[in-house]
Amino acid sequence: MEENILQLRSVVISYPQRSWFFKRKKNATCAVEGISFFLPRGRILGIVGESGSGKSTLLKAIVKFIPIQKGNMIIDDSDVTFISQKEFFPYRRKIQIIPQDFCDTFNPKMSVAEILAEPLDIHFPRLSAKEKNARIVELLESVGLEDALLRRLPSELSGGQRQRLSIARGLAVNPEILICDEIVNACDLYTQKQILSLLTALSREKNIAILFVSHNIAVVAHFCHEILIVRHGRILETGTPYGVCSNPRHPYTQLLIDSIPQIEGEKIDVLHGSGRDSYA
Ligand SMILES: Nc1ncnc2c1ncn2[C@@H]1O[C@H](COP(=O)(O)OP(=O)(O)O)[C@@H](O)[C@H]1O
Ligand SMILES: [Mg+2]
Repeated sequence: MEENILQLRSVVISYPQRSWFFKRKKNATCAVEGISFFLPRGRILGIVGESGSGKSTLLKAIVKFIPIQKGNMIIDDSDVTFISQKEFFPYRRKIQIIPQDFCDTFNPKMSVAEILAEPLDIHFPRLSAKEKNARIVELLESVGLEDALLRRLPSELSGGQRQRLSIARGLAVNPEILICDEIVNACDLYTQKQILSLLTALSREKNIAILFVSHNIAVVAHFCHEILIVRHGRILETGTPYGVCSNPRHPYTQLLIDSIPQIEGEKIDVLHGSGRDSYA
C-alpha cells in the first residue's frame, strides 16, 4: 500500500468576521466545512471548484498561514493540526506552496539568483557559496530555464519564465509536497501544457506529491490521478478524472464540465488522455 504523506480529516476553517461599526468580532464565516482527503507520496491530487469555494483557504491552512479550527492534519504519521509555528518549522521544508498570486511574492528588486538563494539560506544555512550556486543552476535547469537568466529581475522575464521560476523556488528545499494554487490561470495554452508536463515529470522523478488547485476541470482532469470537486467548503464528489467526468454524480460537476471552453463547436475532450489509475 502507498504511504500517505498528507491526510486531512474533517477539517473546518473559518474567518472571524468583524462588525464594521463596533470593530468587535461577530459570527465567523466558515470557508471550509469538514474536508477530508489523503495524498500518497508521488501522486497528484486535483481540487476543482468555482471561485469562493474555499480552495485557497484550505491550502493556506495546510501550510499554517491560517489556523484550522476543527479536524486533523497529519503529515507522515504526525498530527500537526495544533502545533506552534516553531514546531511546524521542519515541516515548512517538506511542504512548499506556489500561491495564486505568486508574482506578488517576488521582490521586484531581487535577481533570479537572489530569489532562489533565499529559501536555501533559510533552510540550508550551512551550504557554501559554491554549493549554493551549483544548486541554483541545477534548479533552473530542472524547470527548463537557462542560467543566462540568473542576473535578470522578475520584470525582465516572460510570464511562462516567471511561472517556472516560482516552481524552481518551490523546489529549492527539496519538498515532499508541492501545493499549486491556480498557477496556470494566466498562461497561454502552450505554456500551460509545458508547465503541467513539468509538474508530472517532477512528481514521477522526485516522488513529489502535488496538490493542484484549479477552477478549470479540463486542466485538472488531464493531469491528476484523482480529483475532488468542492463547493461552499465541502467535497461534493471524488474519484479518478475519468470516473468523475464520464459519470458525474452531482449536477454541479456537470455544470463544471459544461463550462469547459469549446473549439469550433466541439468540447475539449476532458476524458481523453486522463486514464490514470486511482489511488482511492
Ligand atoms: N481573509 C479573509 N477573511 C474573511 N473571509 C475570507 C478571507 N479569505 C477568503 N475569505 C472567504 O472565504 C471563502 C473562500 O475563499 P477562498 O478560499 O479564497 O476561495 P477560492 O480559493 O476557492 O476562490 C470566500 O467566501 C471568501 O470571501
Ligand atoms: Mg483561490
